[in-house]
Amino acid sequence: MITPRAPKGTYDLLPDAAAERDVIVAAAARVFTAYGYRHVVTPEFEETGLFERGVGEATDIVRKEMYTFADKGGRLMTLRPEGTAPVARAYVEHGMHKLPQPVKLWYHAPMFRYERPQAGRYREHHQIGAEAMGSAEPAVDAEVIVMLGQILGELGVTGLRLAVNSMGDRECRPAYVALLREYLEAHAVELCQECRVRTQLNPLRTFDCKEPGCRAVMARAPHVVDHLCAGCRRHFAGVVELLRLAGLAPQVDFTLVRGLDYYTRTTFEFQSDKLGFAQSTVGGGGRYDYLVEQIGGPPTPGVGFGCGLERLTLACEAKAHPVGGPPVYVVAFAPERRADAFAVAQRLRAGGLPGAELDLAARSVKGQLKQASRLGARLAVLVGLDELAAETVRLRDLATGSEDDVTIDELPGRVTSLLAAAARPPERGHVGGRGGKV
Ligand code: HAM
Repeated sequence: MITPRAPKGTYDLLPDAAAERDVIVAAAARVFTAYGYRHVVTPEFEETGLFERGVGEATDIVRKEMYTFADKGGRLMTLRPEGTAPVARAYVEHGMHKLPQPVKLWYHAPMFRYERPQAGRYREHHQIGAEAMGSAEPAVDAEVIVMLGQILGELGVTGLRLAVNSMGDRECRPAYVALLREYLEAHAVELCQECRVRTQLNPLRTFDCKEPGCRAVMARAPHVVDHLCAGCRRHFAGVVELLRLAGLAPQVDFTLVRGLDYYTRTTFEFQSDKLGFAQSTVGGGGRYDYLVEQIGGPPTPGVGFGCGLERLTLACEAKAHPVGGPPVYVVAFAPERRADAFAVAQRLRAGGLPGAELDLAARSVKGQLKQASRLGARLAVLVGLDELAAETVRLRDLATGSEDDVTIDELPGRVTSLLAAAARPPERGHVGGRGGKV
Protein backbone atom coordinates (compact mmCIF):
# COMPACT_ATOMS: atom_id res chain seq x y z
CA MET A 1 0.00 0.00 0.00
CA ILE A 2 1.23 3.48 -0.85
CA THR A 3 0.92 6.08 1.94
CA PRO A 4 -1.17 8.90 0.46
CA ARG A 5 1.19 11.64 1.62
CA ALA A 6 3.60 13.93 -0.22
CA PRO A 7 7.23 12.82 0.37
CA LYS A 8 8.98 14.15 3.47
CA GLY A 9 10.22 17.72 2.94
CA THR A 10 7.83 18.38 0.04
CA TYR A 11 4.33 19.82 0.04
CA ASP A 12 1.25 20.34 -2.09
CA LEU A 13 0.30 23.87 -3.00
CA LEU A 14 -3.51 23.93 -2.80
CA PRO A 15 -5.46 26.40 -4.98
CA ASP A 16 -5.52 29.41 -2.60
CA ALA A 17 -1.80 29.10 -1.91
CA ALA A 18 -1.04 28.40 -5.58
CA ALA A 19 -2.99 31.53 -6.57
CA GLU A 20 -1.00 33.52 -4.01
CA ARG A 21 2.22 32.07 -5.47
CA ASP A 22 1.10 33.04 -8.99
CA VAL A 23 0.59 36.65 -7.86
CA ILE A 24 4.11 36.71 -6.36
CA VAL A 25 5.72 35.27 -9.48
CA ALA A 26 3.79 37.68 -11.72
CA ALA A 27 4.96 40.65 -9.60
CA ALA A 28 8.56 39.40 -9.77
CA ALA A 29 8.27 38.88 -13.54
CA ARG A 30 7.14 42.50 -13.95
CA VAL A 31 10.19 43.75 -12.05
CA PHE A 32 12.59 41.46 -13.94
CA THR A 33 11.18 42.73 -17.23
CA ALA A 34 11.49 46.36 -16.11
CA TYR A 35 15.22 45.77 -15.56
CA GLY A 36 15.66 44.09 -18.96
CA TYR A 37 15.92 40.47 -17.74
CA ARG A 38 14.40 37.77 -19.97
CA HIS A 39 12.79 34.53 -18.86
CA VAL A 40 14.78 31.32 -19.33
CA VAL A 41 13.71 27.73 -18.62
CA THR A 42 16.26 24.94 -18.15
CA PRO A 43 15.67 21.19 -17.52
CA GLU A 44 14.73 19.82 -14.11
CA PHE A 45 17.78 17.54 -14.20
CA GLU A 46 21.31 17.89 -15.52
CA GLU A 47 24.42 15.74 -15.73
CA THR A 48 25.80 15.37 -12.21
CA GLY A 49 29.22 16.65 -13.30
CA LEU A 50 27.75 20.10 -13.95
CA PHE A 51 27.01 20.62 -10.27
CA GLU A 52 30.19 18.88 -9.08
CA ARG A 53 32.29 21.25 -11.18
CA GLY A 54 30.03 24.29 -10.90
CA VAL A 55 28.79 24.31 -7.30
CA GLY A 56 31.94 22.62 -5.94
CA GLU A 57 32.73 19.14 -4.64
CA ALA A 58 33.50 20.43 -1.15
CA THR A 59 30.07 22.04 -0.64
CA ASP A 60 27.32 20.49 1.48
CA ILE A 61 25.04 20.59 -1.57
CA VAL A 62 27.31 18.34 -3.63
CA ARG A 63 28.61 16.19 -0.76
CA LYS A 64 25.31 15.46 0.95
CA GLU A 65 22.23 16.97 -0.62
CA MET A 66 21.95 16.07 -4.29
CA TYR A 67 19.25 13.79 -5.65
CA THR A 68 21.44 11.81 -8.03
CA PHE A 69 20.42 8.78 -10.07
CA ALA A 70 21.75 6.71 -12.94
CA ASP A 71 19.46 6.85 -15.95
CA LYS A 72 18.74 3.80 -18.08
CA GLY A 73 21.80 4.60 -20.21
CA GLY A 74 24.00 4.50 -17.10
CA ARG A 75 24.62 8.29 -17.06
CA LEU A 76 24.64 10.03 -13.69
CA MET A 77 21.94 12.70 -13.48
CA THR A 78 21.01 15.10 -10.68
CA LEU A 79 17.75 16.92 -9.97
CA ARG A 80 18.68 20.61 -10.10
CA PRO A 81 19.72 21.72 -6.57
CA GLU A 82 20.25 25.36 -7.66
CA GLY A 83 19.70 27.51 -10.73
CA THR A 84 23.00 29.21 -11.53
CA ALA A 85 25.06 26.31 -12.93
CA PRO A 86 22.25 25.27 -15.34
CA VAL A 87 21.85 28.85 -16.63
CA ALA A 88 25.63 29.10 -17.07
CA ARG A 89 25.53 25.76 -18.93
CA ALA A 90 22.79 27.10 -21.22
CA TYR A 91 24.82 30.29 -21.79
CA VAL A 92 27.79 28.21 -22.97
CA GLU A 93 25.77 25.65 -24.95
CA HIS A 94 23.89 28.32 -26.92
CA GLY A 95 26.89 30.57 -27.55
CA MET A 96 25.32 33.46 -25.66
CA HIS A 97 28.75 35.09 -25.30
CA LYS A 98 28.19 36.23 -28.91
CA LEU A 99 25.16 38.30 -27.86
CA PRO A 100 25.48 41.86 -26.53
CA GLN A 101 26.77 41.57 -22.95
CA PRO A 102 25.71 41.24 -20.26
CA VAL A 103 23.07 38.63 -21.04
CA LYS A 104 20.38 39.09 -18.38
CA LEU A 105 18.12 36.12 -17.56
CA TRP A 106 15.55 35.25 -14.89
CA TYR A 107 13.92 31.97 -13.88
CA HIS A 108 11.29 30.47 -11.65
CA ALA A 109 11.92 26.81 -10.89
CA PRO A 110 11.82 24.04 -8.30
CA MET A 111 15.11 23.07 -6.65
CA PHE A 112 15.86 19.75 -4.96
CA ARG A 113 18.12 19.32 -1.94
CA TYR A 114 18.19 16.43 0.51
CA GLU A 115 18.14 18.64 3.60
CA ARG A 116 16.72 18.13 7.08
CA PRO A 117 13.18 19.49 6.65
CA GLN A 118 12.07 22.23 9.04
CA ALA A 119 10.16 25.51 8.85
CA GLY A 120 11.42 27.33 5.76
CA ARG A 121 13.58 24.42 4.65
CA TYR A 122 12.29 21.82 2.23
CA ARG A 123 13.64 19.04 0.06
CA GLU A 124 11.86 20.56 -2.89
CA HIS A 125 11.72 24.34 -2.78
CA HIS A 126 11.03 26.96 -5.44
CA GLN A 127 13.18 29.90 -6.38
CA ILE A 128 12.88 32.96 -8.47
CA GLY A 129 16.32 33.99 -9.59
CA ALA A 130 18.28 36.17 -11.97
CA GLU A 131 21.69 35.86 -13.61
CA ALA A 132 23.59 38.58 -15.50
CA MET A 133 26.50 37.13 -17.44
CA GLY A 134 29.24 38.92 -19.35
CA SER A 135 30.06 42.00 -17.29
CA ALA A 136 32.42 42.51 -14.35
CA GLU A 137 31.16 46.03 -13.62
CA PRO A 138 30.09 46.81 -10.03
CA ALA A 139 26.93 48.32 -11.54
CA VAL A 140 25.69 44.81 -12.44
CA ASP A 141 26.15 43.59 -8.87
CA ALA A 142 24.29 46.66 -7.65
CA GLU A 143 21.56 46.16 -10.25
CA VAL A 144 20.75 42.58 -9.24
CA ILE A 145 20.76 43.50 -5.54
CA VAL A 146 18.52 46.55 -6.05
CA MET A 147 16.23 44.46 -8.27
CA LEU A 148 15.76 41.81 -5.56
CA GLY A 149 15.21 44.62 -3.04
CA GLN A 150 12.47 46.06 -5.27
CA ILE A 151 10.75 42.68 -5.68
CA LEU A 152 10.76 42.17 -1.90
CA GLY A 153 9.52 45.72 -1.36
CA GLU A 154 6.68 45.43 -3.87
CA LEU A 155 5.60 42.20 -2.20
CA GLY A 156 5.40 43.89 1.19
CA VAL A 157 8.43 42.26 2.80
CA THR A 158 9.72 44.83 5.29
CA GLY A 159 12.28 44.90 8.10
CA LEU A 160 14.99 43.41 5.93
CA ARG A 161 18.71 43.60 6.52
CA LEU A 162 21.00 43.64 3.49
CA ALA A 163 24.27 41.87 4.31
CA VAL A 164 27.18 42.14 1.85
CA ASN A 165 30.70 40.79 1.71
CA SER A 166 33.51 40.29 -0.78
CA MET A 167 35.12 36.88 -1.22
CA GLY A 168 38.13 38.12 -3.20
CA ASP A 169 39.29 36.60 -6.45
CA ARG A 170 42.04 34.34 -7.85
CA GLU A 171 44.62 36.94 -7.03
CA CYS A 172 43.91 37.52 -3.35
CA ARG A 173 41.83 34.59 -2.11
CA PRO A 174 44.48 31.81 -2.03
CA ALA A 175 46.64 33.75 0.45
CA TYR A 176 43.58 34.49 2.61
CA VAL A 177 42.46 30.84 2.56
CA ALA A 178 45.95 29.74 3.62
CA LEU A 179 45.86 32.26 6.46
CA LEU A 180 42.40 31.09 7.55
CA ARG A 181 43.47 27.42 7.44
CA GLU A 182 46.47 28.22 9.61
CA TYR A 183 44.19 29.98 12.10
CA LEU A 184 41.73 27.07 12.14
CA GLU A 185 44.46 24.48 12.60
CA ALA A 186 45.68 26.46 15.61
CA HIS A 187 42.12 26.25 17.07
CA ALA A 188 41.31 22.70 15.93
CA VAL A 189 40.48 21.45 19.45
CA GLU A 190 37.69 24.04 19.76
CA LEU A 191 36.09 23.05 16.44
CA CYS A 192 33.44 20.41 15.77
CA GLN A 193 34.41 17.28 13.84
CA GLU A 194 32.76 18.58 10.65
CA CYS A 195 34.70 21.86 10.81
CA ARG A 196 37.97 19.99 11.24
CA VAL A 197 37.17 18.26 7.95
CA ARG A 198 36.19 21.63 6.44
CA THR A 199 39.51 23.14 7.57
CA GLN A 200 41.24 20.88 5.07
CA LEU A 201 38.56 20.60 2.36
CA ASN A 202 37.30 24.19 2.23
CA PRO A 203 38.06 26.37 5.26
CA LEU A 204 35.64 29.13 4.17
CA ARG A 205 32.73 26.77 4.92
CA THR A 206 33.54 26.96 8.65
CA PHE A 207 31.86 30.39 8.68
CA ASP A 208 28.54 28.61 8.01
CA CYS A 209 28.74 26.35 11.10
CA LYS A 210 26.06 26.93 13.74
CA GLU A 211 27.91 25.12 16.59
CA PRO A 212 28.55 27.61 19.46
CA GLY A 213 32.22 26.52 19.82
CA CYS A 214 32.87 27.02 16.10
CA ARG A 215 31.04 30.35 16.09
CA ALA A 216 33.25 31.61 18.91
CA VAL A 217 36.36 30.60 16.94
CA MET A 218 35.02 32.20 13.75
CA ALA A 219 34.20 35.45 15.53
CA ARG A 220 37.96 35.99 15.97
CA ALA A 221 38.97 34.63 12.55
CA PRO A 222 40.71 36.84 9.98
CA HIS A 223 38.25 38.62 7.69
CA VAL A 224 38.43 38.22 3.95
CA VAL A 225 37.55 41.90 3.39
CA ASP A 226 40.81 42.83 5.17
CA HIS A 227 42.83 40.76 2.69
CA LEU A 228 41.45 41.87 -0.66
CA CYS A 229 43.69 42.86 -3.56
CA ALA A 230 43.37 46.40 -4.92
CA GLY A 231 41.01 45.32 -7.75
CA CYS A 232 38.61 43.53 -5.39
CA ARG A 233 38.69 46.41 -2.91
CA ARG A 234 37.79 48.89 -5.64
CA HIS A 235 35.03 46.64 -6.92
CA PHE A 236 33.52 46.16 -3.47
CA ALA A 237 33.65 49.89 -2.70
CA GLY A 238 31.93 50.56 -6.04
CA VAL A 239 29.10 48.13 -5.29
CA VAL A 240 28.54 49.51 -1.79
CA GLU A 241 28.48 53.08 -3.08
CA LEU A 242 25.91 52.28 -5.79
CA LEU A 243 23.72 50.47 -3.27
CA ARG A 244 23.77 53.51 -0.99
CA LEU A 245 22.94 55.77 -3.92
CA ALA A 246 19.94 53.52 -4.59
CA GLY A 247 18.76 54.11 -1.03
CA LEU A 248 19.76 50.74 0.44
CA ALA A 249 21.79 50.36 3.62
CA PRO A 250 24.21 47.48 3.05
CA GLN A 251 25.92 46.11 6.14
CA VAL A 252 29.28 44.41 5.67
CA ASP A 253 29.17 40.92 7.16
CA PHE A 254 32.51 39.17 6.99
CA THR A 255 30.93 35.77 7.78
CA LEU A 256 28.84 35.87 4.61
CA VAL A 257 30.65 33.22 2.57
CA ARG A 258 27.48 31.45 1.33
CA GLY A 259 27.16 27.74 0.71
CA LEU A 260 28.31 27.49 -2.90
CA ASP A 261 31.93 27.48 -4.08
CA TYR A 262 31.55 29.52 -7.25
CA TYR A 263 31.42 32.92 -5.56
CA THR A 264 34.10 35.54 -6.17
CA ARG A 265 34.02 39.14 -5.01
CA THR A 266 30.47 40.20 -4.02
CA THR A 267 28.20 38.01 -1.89
CA PHE A 268 24.94 39.32 -0.46
CA GLU A 269 21.78 38.28 1.35
CA PHE A 270 18.49 39.88 2.32
CA GLN A 271 17.74 38.59 5.81
CA SER A 272 14.60 38.88 7.91
CA ASP A 273 14.13 38.07 11.57
CA LYS A 274 10.39 37.73 10.85
CA LEU A 275 11.00 34.23 9.55
CA GLY A 276 11.57 33.25 13.17
CA PHE A 277 13.84 30.27 12.58
CA ALA A 278 17.44 29.50 11.69
CA GLN A 279 16.82 30.19 7.98
CA SER A 280 16.67 33.97 8.14
CA THR A 281 17.78 34.45 4.54
CA VAL A 282 14.95 35.35 2.20
CA GLY A 283 17.20 35.55 -0.84
CA GLY A 284 20.84 35.85 -1.69
CA GLY A 285 23.50 35.52 -4.30
CA GLY A 286 26.71 36.98 -5.55
CA ARG A 287 29.32 37.17 -8.25
CA TYR A 288 30.79 34.08 -9.92
CA ASP A 289 33.50 35.22 -12.33
CA TYR A 290 35.03 31.77 -12.97
CA LEU A 291 31.94 29.56 -13.15
CA VAL A 292 31.38 29.73 -16.91
CA GLU A 293 35.04 28.92 -17.50
CA GLN A 294 34.93 26.06 -14.98
CA ILE A 295 32.13 24.37 -16.88
CA GLY A 296 33.92 24.66 -20.24
CA GLY A 297 32.93 28.09 -21.57
CA PRO A 298 34.96 31.21 -22.38
CA PRO A 299 36.07 33.34 -19.40
CA THR A 300 32.86 35.20 -18.50
CA PRO A 301 32.09 37.09 -15.32
CA GLY A 302 28.60 36.75 -13.84
CA VAL A 303 26.43 37.78 -10.92
CA GLY A 304 22.95 36.80 -9.74
CA PHE A 305 20.64 35.77 -6.94
CA GLY A 306 18.14 33.13 -5.90
CA CYS A 307 15.16 33.80 -3.66
CA GLY A 308 13.08 31.04 -2.07
CA LEU A 309 9.37 31.52 -2.66
CA GLU A 310 8.44 29.61 0.49
CA ARG A 311 10.50 31.98 2.63
CA LEU A 312 9.33 34.97 0.65
CA THR A 313 5.70 34.00 1.33
CA LEU A 314 6.43 33.54 5.04
CA ALA A 315 8.11 36.96 5.20
CA CYS A 316 5.33 38.81 3.33
CA GLU A 317 3.38 41.06 5.67
CA ALA A 318 0.58 41.92 3.29
CA LYS A 319 -0.66 38.63 1.97
CA ALA A 320 -1.43 38.41 -1.70
CA HIS A 321 -5.13 38.15 -2.42
CA PRO A 322 -5.57 35.08 -4.52
CA VAL A 323 -7.79 35.24 -7.53
CA GLY A 324 -10.79 32.90 -7.35
CA GLY A 325 -12.84 31.33 -10.12
CA PRO A 326 -14.59 33.13 -13.00
CA PRO A 327 -16.86 36.07 -12.09
CA VAL A 328 -19.97 34.62 -13.75
CA TYR A 329 -22.10 31.64 -12.68
CA VAL A 330 -24.68 30.18 -15.06
CA VAL A 331 -27.81 28.79 -13.34
CA ALA A 332 -30.14 26.28 -15.02
CA PHE A 333 -33.73 26.79 -13.83
CA ALA A 334 -34.90 23.28 -14.73
CA PRO A 335 -33.12 19.96 -15.26
CA GLU A 336 -34.15 19.96 -18.94
CA ARG A 337 -32.46 23.36 -19.42
CA ARG A 338 -29.01 22.16 -18.31
CA ALA A 339 -27.84 21.73 -21.91
CA ASP A 340 -28.86 25.34 -22.64
CA ALA A 341 -26.96 26.51 -19.55
CA PHE A 342 -23.94 24.54 -20.73
CA ALA A 343 -24.10 26.27 -24.16
CA VAL A 344 -24.42 29.72 -22.53
CA ALA A 345 -21.38 29.05 -20.32
CA GLN A 346 -19.37 27.90 -23.34
CA ARG A 347 -20.23 31.11 -25.13
CA LEU A 348 -18.97 33.15 -22.16
CA ARG A 349 -15.75 31.14 -21.98
CA ALA A 350 -14.87 31.62 -25.64
CA GLY A 351 -12.38 34.12 -27.03
CA GLY A 352 -11.33 36.56 -24.36
CA LEU A 353 -14.62 36.82 -22.44
CA PRO A 354 -14.43 36.82 -18.66
CA GLY A 355 -15.25 33.12 -18.32
CA ALA A 356 -18.04 31.33 -16.46
CA GLU A 357 -18.78 28.40 -14.20
CA LEU A 358 -21.87 26.28 -14.04
CA ASP A 359 -23.29 23.54 -11.90
CA LEU A 360 -21.63 20.15 -12.35
CA ALA A 361 -23.24 18.42 -9.37
CA ALA A 362 -26.99 18.34 -10.23
CA ARG A 363 -27.83 21.01 -7.61
CA SER A 364 -31.26 22.55 -7.16
CA VAL A 365 -31.75 26.18 -8.28
CA LYS A 366 -31.26 27.29 -4.66
CA GLY A 367 -28.15 25.14 -4.42
CA GLN A 368 -26.75 26.64 -7.62
CA LEU A 369 -27.25 30.21 -6.37
CA LYS A 370 -25.63 29.30 -3.07
CA GLN A 371 -22.68 27.81 -4.93
CA ALA A 372 -22.40 31.00 -7.06
CA SER A 373 -21.99 33.14 -3.96
CA ARG A 374 -19.69 30.61 -2.29
CA LEU A 375 -17.40 30.85 -5.32
CA GLY A 376 -17.56 34.62 -5.18
CA ALA A 377 -19.19 35.12 -8.59
CA ARG A 378 -20.25 38.71 -9.29
CA LEU A 379 -22.95 37.90 -11.85
CA ALA A 380 -25.45 35.06 -12.25
CA VAL A 381 -26.96 34.20 -15.63
CA LEU A 382 -30.39 32.61 -15.11
CA VAL A 383 -31.27 30.25 -17.96
CA GLY A 384 -34.74 28.68 -18.51
CA LEU A 385 -37.06 31.03 -16.57
CA ASP A 386 -40.64 30.41 -17.82
CA GLU A 387 -41.45 34.09 -18.22
CA LEU A 388 -38.51 34.78 -20.54
CA ALA A 389 -38.78 34.85 -24.33
CA ALA A 390 -36.81 32.31 -26.37
CA GLU A 391 -33.07 32.97 -26.64
CA THR A 392 -33.26 35.32 -23.66
CA VAL A 393 -31.64 35.00 -20.22
CA ARG A 394 -31.78 37.04 -17.01
CA LEU A 395 -28.58 38.64 -15.76
CA ARG A 396 -28.45 39.19 -11.99
CA ASP A 397 -25.80 41.31 -10.29
CA LEU A 398 -25.16 39.31 -7.12
CA ALA A 399 -23.65 42.30 -5.33
CA THR A 400 -26.47 44.80 -5.93
CA GLY A 401 -29.39 42.44 -6.69
CA SER A 402 -30.26 44.34 -9.88
CA GLU A 403 -31.55 42.30 -12.83
CA ASP A 404 -31.70 42.73 -16.57
CA ASP A 405 -33.10 40.50 -19.34
CA VAL A 406 -30.84 40.16 -22.37
CA THR A 407 -30.69 38.03 -25.49
CA ILE A 408 -27.97 35.41 -25.70
CA ASP A 409 -26.32 37.43 -28.47
CA GLU A 410 -26.19 40.52 -26.25
CA LEU A 411 -24.99 38.58 -23.21
CA PRO A 412 -21.18 38.58 -23.71
CA GLY A 413 -21.08 42.33 -24.30
CA ARG A 414 -23.36 43.07 -21.33
CA VAL A 415 -21.35 40.84 -19.00
CA THR A 416 -18.12 42.52 -20.06
CA SER A 417 -19.45 46.04 -19.52
CA LEU A 418 -21.11 45.19 -16.17
CA LEU A 419 -17.89 43.68 -14.84
CA ALA A 420 -15.87 46.66 -16.06
CA ALA A 421 -18.31 49.04 -14.37
CA ALA A 422 -18.16 47.24 -11.04
CA ALA A 423 -15.99 49.79 -9.26
CA ARG A 424 -15.18 47.67 -6.24
CA PRO A 425 -15.42 43.91 -6.51
CA PRO A 426 -17.25 42.10 -3.69
CA GLU A 427 -15.65 40.00 -0.97
CA ARG A 428 -15.06 36.56 -2.39
CA GLY A 429 -15.73 34.33 0.60
CA HIS A 430 -13.09 31.64 1.07
CA VAL A 431 -11.18 32.40 -2.11
CA GLY A 432 -10.28 36.01 -1.22
CA GLY A 433 -10.72 39.24 -3.20
CA ARG A 434 -10.62 39.25 -6.96
CA GLY A 435 -7.57 40.77 -8.57
CA GLY A 436 -6.33 42.23 -5.28
CA LYS A 437 -2.93 43.81 -5.04
CA VAL A 438 -0.04 42.22 -3.19
P1 HAM B 1 21.09 29.59 -2.09
O1 HAM B 1 21.46 30.57 -1.02
O2 HAM B 1 21.55 28.20 -1.90
O3 HAM B 1 21.67 30.19 -3.44
O4 HAM B 1 19.53 29.59 -2.28
C1 HAM B 1 18.83 30.78 -2.60
C2 HAM B 1 17.59 30.92 -1.75
O5 HAM B 1 16.78 29.76 -1.92
C3 HAM B 1 17.83 30.99 -0.26
O6 HAM B 1 18.12 32.30 0.14
C4 HAM B 1 16.49 30.54 0.29
O7 HAM B 1 15.55 31.59 0.22
C5 HAM B 1 16.08 29.49 -0.72
N1 HAM B 1 16.40 28.12 -0.27
C6 HAM B 1 17.58 27.47 -0.37
N2 HAM B 1 17.48 26.23 0.11
C7 HAM B 1 16.20 26.09 0.54
C8 HAM B 1 15.46 25.02 1.14
N3 HAM B 1 16.01 23.84 1.38
N4 HAM B 1 14.15 25.23 1.44
C9 HAM B 1 13.57 26.44 1.19
N5 HAM B 1 14.22 27.47 0.63
C10 HAM B 1 15.52 27.31 0.30
C11 HAM B 1 21.51 29.60 -4.65
O8 HAM B 1 20.82 28.66 -4.88
C12 HAM B 1 22.25 30.34 -5.75
N6 HAM B 1 21.99 29.67 -7.03
C13 HAM B 1 21.84 31.79 -5.80
C14 HAM B 1 22.58 32.55 -6.83
C15 HAM B 1 22.15 32.87 -8.07
N7 HAM B 1 23.82 33.00 -6.72
C16 HAM B 1 24.16 33.59 -7.86
N8 HAM B 1 23.17 33.50 -8.69
